[in-house]
Amino acid sequence: STIFLKDYTPPTHLIDTIELTVRLNDDVTTVSSRLVGRRNPASGSGPADLYLDGEDQELVSLTLDGRTLEKGDWRQKPEGIVVPGIAGDFTLEVEGRIKPQDNTRLEGLYKAGGMYCTQCEAEGFRRITYFPDRPDVMAVYTVRIEADKARYPVLLSNGNRIETGDLEEGRHYAVWHDPFRKPAYLFAMVAGDLMVDRDSFTTRSGREVALEIYVEPGNEGRTGHAMDSLKRSMAWDEEVYGFEYDLDIFMIVAVSSFNMGAMENKGLNIFNDKFILADLSTATDADFQRIEAIVAHEYFHNWTGNRITCRDWFQLSLKEGLTVFRDQEFSADTHDRGVKRVGDVRLLRAAQFPEDGGPTAHPVRPDSYIEINNFYTVTVYEKGAEVVRMIHSLLGAEAYRKGIDLYVERHDGQAVTCDDFVAAMQDASGIDLTRFKRWYAQAGTPRVSADWRYDEAARTLTLDLAQTTDPTPGQPDKQPVVIPLRTALIGENGQRLPLTVDGEESGDETVLVLDEAERRVTFSDVPKGAVPSLLRGFSAPVKLDAAWSDADLGFLAATDDDPFSRWEALQTLATRAILAMVEAKRAGRPMSLDAAVVSAVRDGLEDARLEPAFLAELLALPGESMLGQAMDVWHVDAVHEAREDAIWTLGDTLFDTWLALYDRLSGETAADDLSTAAMGRRALRNRALQFLVSSGRPEGLARAAAQVQAAASMTDVMSALAALNDTDCPERTEALQAFHDRWQDNPLVLDKWFTLEASSALPGTLDRVKELQSHPRFDPKNPNRIRALVGGFTMGNPVRFHASDGSGYAFLADEVLRIDQLNPQIASRLCQPLVRWRRFDGERAKAMTGALRRIVEQPTLSKDVFEIASKGLS
Ligand code: ARG
Ligand code: ZN
Repeated sequence: STIFLKDYTPPTHLIDTIELTVRLNDDVTTVSSRLVGRRNPASGSGPADLYLDGEDQELVSLTLDGRTLEKGDWRQKPEGIVVPGIAGDFTLEVEGRIKPQDNTRLEGLYKAGGMYCTQCEAEGFRRITYFPDRPDVMAVYTVRIEADKARYPVLLSNGNRIETGDLEEGRHYAVWHDPFRKPAYLFAMVAGDLMVDRDSFTTRSGREVALEIYVEPGNEGRTGHAMDSLKRSMAWDEEVYGFEYDLDIFMIVAVSSFNMGAMENKGLNIFNDKFILADLSTATDADFQRIEAIVAHEYFHNWTGNRITCRDWFQLSLKEGLTVFRDQEFSADTHDRGVKRVGDVRLLRAAQFPEDGGPTAHPVRPDSYIEINNFYTVTVYEKGAEVVRMIHSLLGAEAYRKGIDLYVERHDGQAVTCDDFVAAMQDASGIDLTRFKRWYAQAGTPRVSADWRYDEAARTLTLDLAQTTDPTPGQPDKQPVVIPLRTALIGENGQRLPLTVDGEESGDETVLVLDEAERRVTFSDVPKGAVPSLLRGFSAPVKLDAAWSDADLGFLAATDDDPFSRWEALQTLATRAILAMVEAKRAGRPMSLDAAVVSAVRDGLEDARLEPAFLAELLALPGESMLGQAMDVWHVDAVHEAREDAIWTLGDTLFDTWLALYDRLSGETAADDLSTAAMGRRALRNRALQFLVSSGRPEGLARAAAQVQAAASMTDVMSALAALNDTDCPERTEALQAFHDRWQDNPLVLDKWFTLEASSALPGTLDRVKELQSHPRFDPKNPNRIRALVGGFTMGNPVRFHASDGSGYAFLADEVLRIDQLNPQIASRLCQPLVRWRRFDGERAKAMTGALRRIVEQPTLSKDVFEIASKGLS
C-alpha cells in the first residue's frame, strides 16, 4: 500500500505527555505507558477515532480515563488499533509486552551485544508501545527504566535523570524527564554495562553541559576524537548559526549493531560504533574525518530536526538536507574547503546521480512511498543539501542567516514542511523563491549545456546556456529549475578577468542564474584567449556539458583558482581520454592514454602552490562507475582495463617523479600528527604509492610492502594494502594475512580486511567472499559485517560483481533473500545495485532482471525489499 503526500491530514488528537515504564527482562519485557492527550483543534471537534500505531507486540490492556476497555471498545487494525469516539481531553493507559532479544530488524527496542538500545526513526516506536507514531505528534516524555542492576548498571533515556533507586531481586531503576516536546522517533533508551568518557562544555550563555560518551567494555580509550569533535561542533554551531545547546547533559552511546550511521535522539545520540571509536593504530585519516562529520551532523540535528522537526516523512529533507549542508560546512571550515567540496561532489555523482537517473528516482521531497525507510537516500540527504546550498548562494551568507533566524523564530517547537523553510528564507531575504521550489518537487538531474563564441573585433564573449531534465518515473514532463552558475573568465595569464555581464560590471566572479530553458549572456570587453570557468564550486547539482576543447581543459586544470573547477577540468580531460581508450579497445585497436593527460598530471605535480591534500585529489583518476556513467552502456570490463592501463601509463611515465615525491614525503610527517596538513601529506604520499605500485616495477611493490610492515598509521597500512590489492603477488598475500592475524579481535578493523578481500579485482574474489562468510569472526546478522563483506563486493568491485556470467547477481539475490528474513532495511539497501540494470549490456541486464525477479517472487518479502525490487523491474 502506497502512502501519498497529498493525503496528509493533521492528527485527530494530540498527546501532551507520555509516561513510559519499561521493565527489561530476559524473556518478556513489559511496557506501560500513560498518555495524556486531547482533541486537536486543527483537525476538528467532537468525537473522533484515535488511531495508535503498534506492531510486533502483545497488547495486554487498554484503560481510558480509568476505565478498562473491553474487546468491543476498540478495533484491531493490521498495524495498529483504533479507539473510537474520543472528543475531549483523555488519559489512555496501555500495557504491552515485547521481546527485544528476538528483534533482528534493529528497529524499536533491541539487544545488541550485551546491551539494550533503541532505533525509533522513522517508525520504530510503534514496535515498543501503541502510540500515534507520526512526527507531528509531539509530547513531553517521562521514562522509567527497570533492569537487573548487575548486568545493566547504566540506564539512559532522553533529557535529565530525575530519580534513581534500587528494587527487589537485584534490580534497579532510573527515571528520565525530557522537558522538550518531541515526536516519538526521537525517543531513545539504553541499558547496559557500559564505560563512560566524561567531559563538559560551557555554552556561550554560561550553561555547563555534561558530555558523556558510552561504549562497551573494551572500547574505552577510543572516544577522544569523538569527544573533541563534539565540543568543536558545539562551538561552531554557536558561532555560525547562533544555536546553543539546551539541556544540561548530552550523551552519545556507541553500539555494535546498528542499521545506519547514527541517530540524533534528543540528548541521547546513538551511534554505530564505527562512527565513534578511533585511535591512531586502528582508524584512518578518512575514518577520523567521517567520525567528526557524523558527530557534528547528529549534534546539529538538535536544532535542525529536534527543536524544529518534520510535519510528515515526506518532509525528511527539511531536517536532513539542511543538516547535511551544515555538517559539510563545518568540515569545510575545519579542514580544506576545496578538498571537502571535491569529496562531496564525488559522492553526489557516484551515488545520487545514478539514483536520480534510475527506476528509484524521487524528488528531494518525495510524493509517495511504500516504506519510508527506503527514502533515507542520497537524494533526500545529499541532493537536499545541494538545494540548501543553492539557497545559501542565491541569498548570500547574511540573508541566509536572517532566513535561519526567522525560521527558528516562527517554528521553534513545531513540526513543519519544506515550504515553511523556503518561506522563511524568502521572507527574510525578499528574494522570490517560488520557482526555486521546483527543486523539491522535481526528480532527475538537470543537464546544462554551455556554448560560447568570441568576437574578436567587438571583444565580446557570448555564452549560450540551456537546460533540460530527462523524464523520471511518474514525471514525464519537466520544467526548468533555477540554476545558479558561478562563473568567471580566466585570462591568458591564468588570472580572473574583470567581468561586464550584459553591460553591468560584476567583479571578477558572478552567479549567472539560469531559470528558463535557455539564456544568453554577453560578456563585454573580453581580451582574446579568455576561457570561461563555469559551475565554479559546483554551484548546482547538474550535469554540465560545456564546449571546452581539450586545450581549454588543460589550461583550466593548470590555472583555475577555484579548486573544484580545477579538479573538474582534469577529471573531464581524463574521462575523455579514458573513454577514447575504451572505444579503441572495443574496436580492437591499440589503446594509449592521451599525452595531454600525462602532461596535465605532470603540471599538477610541479605546481608548488598546491596544498598536498588538494593535489592528491587532483591526481586521482575518475573511478570506474563515474566512467561508466559517462557512457550510454557501461562496458564494465573495457572500462576497468582502460582505467588500469591509464594508471599504469601515469605510473610508468612519471615513475621517477612519483618516487621522488614518495620518498620526500616519507620523512615529513609524524604518524600521530592528525592536523589537516599532515593528513594531506599522507594522502599525497599514498597517491604516489598507488602510481608506483601500478607501474608494476619492483621498487613500487617493495615500498608498499615496507609501508604495510612499518605500520606507522592505519592510513598508511590501508593505503598500501589498497595499492597492492589488485595485484596477484606474494606481497599482497602476505600483507593481507599479517593484517588479518594482527587485527582479528577488533571487529571494526577486521571489517577493513573483509572489504579489501571483497573488493579485489583479482579473479576468484567471489569464491573468496563466499568462503569468508564462514569465517569465525563473520557474524551474518551484523550490519557492519554485511556491509563490509557483501557490500564491499557488490558496491566496491564493479568488475567482479558485474561478471558476465551473472554469478555476482545470483550471489546478491541469495544474500538479499537471506538477510530480508532478519533485517529488511539492510536487505533493501543491499538490493539497490540490481535496479541499475538498464545501464548494462543485454546479457548483464537480463541476468540482473532475472535476479530481481527471483527476489520479488519470494512470498514473504518485506515491504522494504518489495518496493525497491519491484520499482527496479517496472
Ligand atoms: N536521522 C538519522 C541521521 O541522518 C538517520 C536515521 C536513519 N533511520 C532510518 N530508519 N533509515 O542522522
Ligand atoms: Zn541526519
